[in-house]
Amino acid sequence: MDTPAWPEPETTTETRFPTDFVWGAGTAAFQIEGSTRADGRGVSIWDTFTAQPGRIHGGDTGDPAADHYRRYHEDVALLRSMGVDHYRFSLAWPRIQPTGSGPANPAGLDFYDRLVDDLLAAGIQPWPTLYHWDLPQPLEDAGGWPARDTALRFAEYAAIAHQRLGDRVTAWSTMNEPWVAAFLGYASGQHAPGRREPAAALAAAHHLLLGHGLAATAIREQGTPTIGITLNTQPIRPNDGTVADIDAARRVDGIRNRFFLDPLYHGRYPDDVRADLAGITDLGFVREGDLPTIAAPLDFLGVNYYSPAWVAGSAEGIDPRLLEPDGVGADYVGCDDVTMLRGTEDRTDQDWAVDPGGLTEMLVRLAVDYPGLPLYVTECGASYRDEVGSDGTVRDTDRRAFLASHVRATHTALRAGAPVKGFFVWTLLDNFEWAYGYSERFGIVYVDYETQARIVKDSGHWYGELAKTGVLPA
Ligand code: NOJ
Repeated sequence: MDTPAWPEPETTTETRFPTDFVWGAGTAAFQIEGSTRADGRGVSIWDTFTAQPGRIHGGDTGDPAADHYRRYHEDVALLRSMGVDHYRFSLAWPRIQPTGSGPANPAGLDFYDRLVDDLLAAGIQPWPTLYHWDLPQPLEDAGGWPARDTALRFAEYAAIAHQRLGDRVTAWSTMNEPWVAAFLGYASGQHAPGRREPAAALAAAHHLLLGHGLAATAIREQGTPTIGITLNTQPIRPNDGTVADIDAARRVDGIRNRFFLDPLYHGRYPDDVRADLAGITDLGFVREGDLPTIAAPLDFLGVNYYSPAWVAGSAEGIDPRLLEPDGVGADYVGCDDVTMLRGTEDRTDQDWAVDPGGLTEMLVRLAVDYPGLPLYVTECGASYRDEVGSDGTVRDTDRRAFLASHVRATHTALRAGAPVKGFFVWTLLDNFEWAYGYSERFGIVYVDYETQARIVKDSGHWYGELAKTGVLPA
């Protein structure tokens, strides 16, 4: 990995974004909708996973989540009242095709139809994602993402969704964070379906990418959509200038970033990563024609950013207090011997490192190493322990500061020449945070899960103002 000098953070008092810069907020179906059995919705791997004891903090499940399936109208009105005019959300595959194949479920399609109409009527542009991790359970029973057939089924589902909504929706994202779906789902087992099979996880990663390419091709045949994919690219920082640390960073960067970016942009898996993985798989699941399909033309790249990772080749000589609690890089397939470090002192309440410079670094690196596509920050946000004050407000100063520093970091990248076109805060509503259940709150809107009342947090008021003006005040 080259290590250019990243632009200095901005210290200007006021930061102005281009007038056509897109400001949005994001959500995902399983995290907010609830109503998991309504109107013919099928079972997803997350329904199955959350029903298994010990998988999710507090035994939480996807019901009722933020009850958005029944309150979508109110939530659209909320977005409008805040002044946010782009909304990234995901379509639940098991609502649209309850078993993952075969005919569509009209009631499931109707829901997204109503949502899209509501958004447009409110002057909000819909940005759906086709896959945000809720695979129909019957497809998992038939092998899941490690099975090639799942990619073919995904393209059929994408065509059904686009056929119904494509007359009104122009910006489509195929996959959200295929790294997470493949490796947390099939290697570390922290996410559904909870399997721990590194070789299968690599096949899953390939089939997620293949599904992306097949879906992009299928929906392009129906019209002229704008198509992107969202990756959770992550800056990987070597602890020191040693050969061992720099090589550890190369390996982690390879499996986390380049294993996805290189096939999408260049139609090939990186040679060094293939060599690193040789003891796990020979990538025999890659068939002729797959890579050109994966590299089908794209219109934008979505970038989800939370924090960098700091890595060392070995833990020797490192103060144990500087190590990440789980210590090793086991989340990164083939990197179990890499030591993970905590990096920054500044942490969110979820204990994630706060490092806005990492966002600038990633955006600029993408512009240099993978030029040619507009970039959107499709997720950025933080979990803090919010409390509703006696006056009924939520004064989430930490989240507001987090967002301000990351918006500024985005502007620094823009000024440095990265083609960044938009920023979507994660997330609109407090919601089901996967393995953490409802214990983590990322929303700019507070959700009282007892009553389902919504309270726009201070960060939400602040973000709405930013979205309206495109100016980040000092
Ligand atoms: C990325 C995922 O796309 C989203 O679903 C999740 O809630 C956030 N990261 C925070 O962990």
